[in-house]
Amino acid sequence: MTNSAQPSADSHNPLRRAVVYGLGAMGRPMARNLHQHGLLIGVKNRTAGKAQALQKELGLPDFPDDATLFSQADCVVTCVAADDDLKAVVRKITPHLAAGSVIIDTSTVSPETARELAEDLKKQGIEFLDAPMSGGVEGARKGALSFMVGGDKNTFKRARDIFAAMGNQITWMGKSGQGQAAKMVNQVMVAGIAQAVCEALAFAEASKLNTDKLIEVLTAGAANNWFLEKRGHSMLKNEFGTGFKLSLLHKDLSICQSTVKRLDAELPIIEQGLREYGELMQKGYGDEDISALIRLYRRIFHTDEHPGTPPDSNANLSEATTT
Ligand SMILES: NC(=O)c1ccc[n+]([C@@H]2O[C@H](COP(=O)([O-])OP(=O)(O)OC[C@H]3O[C@@H](n4cnc5c(N)ncnc54)[C@H](OP(=O)(O)O)[C@@H]3O)[C@@H](O)[C@H]2O)c1
Repeated sequence: MTNSAQPSADSHNPLRRAVVYGLGAMGRPMARNLHQHGLLIGVKNRTAGKAQALQKELGLPDFPDDATLFSQADCVVTCVAADDDLKAVVRKITPHLAAGSVIIDTSTVSPETARELAEDLKKQGIEFLDAPMSGGVEGARKGALSFMVGGDKNTFKRARDIFAAMGNQITWMGKSGQGQAAKMVNQVMVAGIAQAVCEALAFAEASKLNTDKLIEVLTAGAANNWFLEKRGHSMLKNEFGTGFKLSLLHKDLSICQSTVKRLDAELPIIEQGLREYGELMQKGYGDEDISALIRLYRRIFHTDEHPGTPPDSNANLSEATTT
């Protein structure tokens, strides 16, 4: 089917038949939550095995081909790595989508990509919402993500049930691209907090503190934050398999850097993050969680710079470590 069904762009026509495209650390739990709310008709992933496994787990029906799957959806929730990946996915699925259907993109990409896609798709009768999220794999599992959404407000209202199945803070930020613009601000904070916590915990190790007690006392005080709570203990045990791949934060910081450059400025957190995550990627740690930054800060204290063996850089975070 080629964009031929009846348009249905009113807020009284809520979206209820979603396909999730992209079943990585975030997409998989989001799909599970949509399924639990009776809003998922199918899943799709570049590596087909992951989609087949989830389809089986959730007892989703078989579709003979992509055309049938996507033409029966009223929305596609995309969750892929970067700008070019999203553009390729959108190119692939658009010919199958019914007019009036909506692509809800939860990946982190540039505001420009979001605006371009929204404009192109509009001409083809398809709506597009940029809906990046925050809350990590834990938030995705619990259906407790925070979504920052850009695009047509009426379309946003139609997508209310879809967002509510995956998140608990859903905020319309304005026109197309404004969701991603908000996410860029979020990522500068994420990077800065990671820098502060990793540096301080490397200091704690060098001070021979009881770090279990330390985290307990710090999380009860003014220094508490999500990253310390969720990644403090694991990074001190050199466990970096759960969470947000540092290569993805590096990608986000590159987008932040271009956005800030356009304002004729430079932000130290962004520059430092790009340098440090770039170094870790070069050393083969790109698929590890961003808390692996502590590896670099240990050298400030002349302690072990790279404990453990670099992982296979091609290996994805496994289901066991991410869900
Ligand atoms: N992890 C987090 O805590 C977090 C939090 C907020 C936002 N995000 C953002 O959410 C997005 C997904 O993150 P994630 O942690 O789920 O990443 P991930 O575990 O690395 O998964 C990436 C997904 O994108 C797919 N993909 C990559 N390139 C593709 C392409 N060219 N065509 C089609 N599919 C492609 C992958 O397919 P394969 O399975 O075939 O590789 C996989 O399904 C990213 O934009 C990330 O920045 C992540």
